[in-house]
Amino acid sequence: MSVESTETNPLRALSPQDLRAHAAEALTRARERSVALTDAVDDEDLIRQHSKLMSPLVWDLAHIGSQEELWLVRDVGGREALRPDIDDIYDAFQHARADRPELPLLGPDETRKYVRQVREKSFDILENVPLQGRRLTEDAFAFGMITQHEQQHDETMLATHQLRKGDPVLHAPAPPSSRSGRLPAEVFVPGGVFTMGTSAEPWALDNERPAHEVAVEAFFIDTAPVTCGAYAEFLDSGGYQDPKWWSERGWAYRSEHGIDAPRFWKREQDGWWRTRFGVYEKISMAEPVVHVSFYEAEAYAAWAGRRLPTEREWEKAARFDPATGRSRRFPWGDQEPTPEHANLGQRHLRPAEVGAYPAGASPLGVHQLIGDVWEWTSSGFEAYPGFSAFPYKEYSDVFFGGDYRILRGGSFGTDTAAIRGTFRNWDHPIRRQIFSGFRCARDARPGEVG
Ligand code: AVJ
Ligand code: FE
Repeated sequence: MSVESTETNPLRALSPQDLRAHAAEALTRARERSVALTDAVDDEDLIRQHSKLMSPLVWDLAHIGSQEELWLVRDVGGREALRPDIDDIYDAFQHARADRPELPLLGPDETRKYVRQVREKSFDILENVPLQGRRLTEDAFAFGMITQHEQQHDETMLATHQLRKGDPVLHAPAPPSSRSGRLPAEVFVPGGVFTMGTSAEPWALDNERPAHEVAVEAFFIDTAPVTCGAYAEFLDSGGYQDPKWWSERGWAYRSEHGIDAPRFWKREQDGWWRTRFGVYEKISMAEPVVHVSFYEAEAYAAWAGRRLPTEREWEKAARFDPATGRSRRFPWGDQEPTPEHANLGQRHLRPAEVGAYPAGASPLGVHQLIGDVWEWTSSGFEAYPGFSAFPYKEYSDVFFGGDYRILRGGSFGTDTAAIRGTFRNWDHPIRRQIFSGFRCARDARPGEVG
């Protein structure tokens, strides 16, 4: 059985007209979000740098337009450049985030006009360009790639909002509460080969490709991400004061930066509080912990007598269907995520309680793998066997082998267009301004089956 025959391509069933409509809808949804995130604050706030770790919001917005101009207007469309003069300013490789406020950036109004003009041209190109005959436009890939790029920067802008000081400007209803009763702590995942990565998923990015078989030893994985309540036990038992739980690099990082709790947490007389998008509130202990670095996740796991899952283990837990031996697109099957499956797309401004998405569980019974919080794994960022950079080396290739750890599954701030069972995110192990949490795993003992 070929590994590819086990997968489905959901866009192959669409007529060319429906494929164009699907791509246009995805682009429009991304743009509505970019506009909402940037219209929420005044001009001064848009050009300000809220943290050295982040770009000014107005840089992200123009960069979104600039990437779209590069790929959709100039490459796919073969049209003339709108603004060749600003290519350098919005090239992420030319300027570190810390230096971006000093650049001669377009102002807020000019930026809005620029991204609108680019989008008009993109829509014209989407209507007219053939969607076969060229790999970049096959299944409308370039439009999907640019949609994902915009959504990725929207999540980055959401993280900038979380760092911003001042009154709340973003609002959303609370996520659902737990609907699962008491979940078992962990789930057994059988050893053996499974299909990792994809060759059929039409909008999968280069680093998710190709599909390949991977052998994994039997292991146990937590049913749900580690909660604030469990994490607070680690804190309250002195976990941040004892180097024995920490790696050498992790302890050095903790000590140097005086880190004594997850980012945004503060201890008050009546327990732990945090600032969340401008609201100071008591921490809900049933929610997954968020804004922890890889080093903190690793220290918690050691304290709990466990470890982080490898990237392979995470993907097997998320995609492997023991009934058929197939790897599926999502934990719940092949259908696109709905609000019943997962907390995605900034519909809520926080992770949901553990147990809130029973419909999103995997066949083995692992919950909330998609949405809520990005999950740190113990793996570095490496190319899959047979990888080839497409369409540009600066998306993935230049990061392979660097000082990164893989994160999987997406967060409440990740749009459905930008997440899949195969999607790979990566960041430096010290980073915690992202919506990062984790779950633990452990080896199965010989003969142990849960
Ligand atoms: C895949 C999330 C690590 O935001 O740095 C955006 C995505 N690449 N623009 C990032 C990305 C180019 C990237 N991550
Ligand atoms: Fe980018």
